[in-house]
Amino acid sequence: MKILVTGGAGFIGSNFVYLLLEERPEWKIICVDALTYAANIHTLNDAFKSPNFVFYKEDIRNREGISAIFEKERPDVVVNFAAESHVDRSIENPAIFLETNIIGTAVLMDACRKYGIQRFHQVGTDEVYGDLPLDRPDLFFHEDTPIHTSSPYSTSKASADLLVQAYHRTYGLPVTISRCSNNYGPYQFPEKLIPLMINNASQNKPLPVYGEGLNVRDWLYVKDHCYGILAVLEKGRVGEVYNLGGHNEKANIEIVKIILSELGKPESLITFVTDRKGHDQRYAIDPGKAMAELGWAPTTMFKDGIKLTIQWYREHMDWMAECTSGGYMKYYEEMYGNR
Ligand code: NAD
Ligand code: DAU
Repeated sequence: MKILVTGGAGFIGSNFVYLLLEERPEWKIICVDALTYAANIHTLNDAFKSPNFVFYKEDIRNREGISAIFEKERPDVVVNFAAESHVDRSIENPAIFLETNIIGTAVLMDACRKYGIQRFHQVGTDEVYGDLPLDRPDLFFHEDTPIHTSSPYSTSKASADLLVQAYHRTYGLPVTISRCSNNYGPYQFPEKLIPLMINNASQNKPLPVYGEGLNVRDWLYVKDHCYGILAVLEKGRVGEVYNLGGHNEKANIEIVKIILSELGKPESLITFVTDRKGHDQRYAIDPGKAMAELGWAPTTMFKDGIKLTIQWYREHMDWMAECTSGGYMKYYEEMYGNR
């Protein structure tokens, strides 16, 4: 099996590469990543040691470059993780989200059509369903929940999903889509809630909580997400969407307090800042279809996963330092300076 993984130098893509090396050591992994600010090539240091792993620095928007990789490698399966993934950045600069997340996906699928593949899998997000009210804990996102997006990010991801379904219906491309809730774990860029709070707390810096910190997210340990994607690839039905999540809803303020407690830092570091524009209230996935059809289920409880995650960042402060060098301080100042 030759599997082409885009976005493999980012958070979930790299965890997926490591899962494949562990669980499917006979597969050849062709990793394609443009190495944007969100990537860290050192994340893949151990993967480079495997003879079954090859890496291409390429942009999924570059039709010729992507075509050349397909021509050379002839992948059987493509999994598309590559994306601009941060909601706050999409609010500041939507254009790159449209280009990478929509056009990039189309470029990849055109290459799949030209060269033929057994499966194109699109890594999607629960944000395409919009949000749920905080006072209706009985409501969940199902695969047939209407698409109803809030941010330029979620709109670009929803557009990509629709395009994937169009390529299936119109051209018969064998596709699947998974839509996952918020991931946490090793190698997440510290612009996202959990690593940002761990990084700031470790340095006794203020923890910027948007609004009142009452927005709810449904957290899934990244390795469980990766097992879910593998299950969709191997057992999922072509043309189908699968929601992946673990029924683990927490308000942001709860998460921040857990991190402070684990690190032995005072709650006085919490600083409430101006809310995100259009801030989604609550995400909550119903993973029943994936569980019933694929036999998939998350195995990492949040209380264990968050400890593992904090421990990982504490042991990899050099990795964090690499991520926060370069443009990070400028980004942080622009995003949080006058908030
Ligand atoms: P990330 O930002 O950590 O990584 C994205 C990777 O894609 C980076 O390595 C980056 O260099 C690469 N990339 C960006 N633009 C590219 C381009 N034009 N060409 C090639 N490579 C490019 O993102 P992540 O959190 O790992 O998310 C991966 C995927 O999973 C995304 O599609 C995201 O929408 C989806 N997703 C994320 C979460 C989450 O909680 N993080 C949850 C559900 C779905
Ligand atoms: O649900 C899946 C989505 O989860 C993915 O599709 C996205 O790629 C991923 O970034 C994530 O989106 P969120 O917007 O939920 O994640 P983020 O970590 O940015 O924020 C989580 C919550 O924490 C959200 O309610 C905003 C809040 N927050 C975030 C940051 C960065 C803060 O209160 N302070 C912060 O500094």
